[in-house]
Amino acid sequence: MHDRTLGASGPVVSALGLGCMGMSALYGEADRTESVATIHAALDAGVTLLDTGDFYGMGHNELLIGEALHTAGAGARDRVVLSVKFGALRDAGGGWNGYDGRPAAVKNFLAYTLQRLGTDHVDVYRLSRLDPAVPVEETVGAIAEEVEAGRVRHIGLSEVGAETIRRAAAVAPISDLQIEYSLFSRDIEAETLPVCRELGIGVTAYGVLSRGLLGGHWTRDRALAPGDFRGLSPRFSGENLDRNLALVEALRATAEQKGVTVAQAAIAWVLSRGEDIVPLVGARRRDRLAEALGAVDVALDAADLAAIEDAVPADEVAGTRYPEALMAHLDS
Ligand SMILES: NC(=O)c1ccc[n+]([C@@H]2O[C@H](COP(=O)([O-])OP(=O)(O)OC[C@H]3O[C@@H](n4cnc5c(N)ncnc54)[C@H](OP(=O)(O)O)[C@@H]3O)[C@@H](O)[C@H]2O)c1
Repeated sequence: MHDRTLGASGPVVSALGLGCMGMSALYGEADRTESVATIHAALDAGVTLLDTGDFYGMGHNELLIGEALHTAGAGARDRVVLSVKFGALRDAGGGWNGYDGRPAAVKNFLAYTLQRLGTDHVDVYRLSRLDPAVPVEETVGAIAEEVEAGRVRHIGLSEVGAETIRRAAAVAPISDLQIEYSLFSRDIEAETLPVCRELGIGVTAYGVLSRGLLGGHWTRDRALAPGDFRGLSPRFSGENLDRNLALVEALRATAEQKGVTVAQAAIAWVLSRGEDIVPLVGARRRDRLAEALGAVDVALDAADLAAIEDAVPADEVAGTRYPEALMAHLDS
């Protein structure tokens, strides 16, 4: 496993991180034993970045990671960088009720997170979506106080745009921006990524497999469990899905010529975008993880990159990356 550094001020992490969301929420049922085994397999393979959110299964995901680290043997916690998002307001019916970035809320969320993870610090702490009622300076200022207190090591951002990034970075050093970035979602290239680079902020890229659509295993007739986010995603519905799966087939042909899988080509493409970008893969099973890890050693030359971008042109994906109501929460 290779290492990358998250921005000028951030931690050194493995070139691929493991996103644990799907082990608790949003992608249907997950198998707890397999989830823990997948985290253990990732650690054994040298993955040192684990990403979660306190609202993934209302604490379930943090408890799962806490258990996996506890059972991974002595010193496991200290070998990983734990990246945690907070701020989403949920209800017991699974609803989403906005975001809370008030300083008192930051401290409250963190206290619960530390308890659930069974640790005395979070390595990268970030608000999941901008709270429109609270200036970002106040939220980042509150996290900076937790850095002072030793309960947080680094401050991150999630799904915010250029202006917010600049305002946040004026308050305290920012390690990385977490944002969707893939062959299907290239919006950050125009403005957000250049601003991150100017300010020495890294990127943890999520949805590099477009939530499974670009994984090479998706089929049109796949049944979705109630509550699976993809049932609401415009990219997974109707004609959009047909058009997007046609792009995946074009990518498969290119990937096969290179002797790699679709998922490996998609992840390797994100890895090729710069040493300051760390893809998070949302593997929920060891077989998927093993496939994703294979991307780390895939070297793409200029001809490979051209062939991949030919197969999946930047603006050909059909559908927005979130349903309309959720797009409204994106400052990015
Ligand atoms: N900051 C934010 O706003 C935000 C938003 C979303 C996610 N995230 C973070 O980013 C992480 C990754 O996001 P994501 O899960 O949506 O991303 P993803 O990696 O694009 O999609 C994961 C899905 O792809 C499928 N897949 C197919 N082949 C795979 C392979 N070889 N390896 C891994 N997955 C494969 C899996 O579906 P099956 O398991 O069904 O086969 C899996 O559930 C999350 O876990 C979370 O930590 C952050």
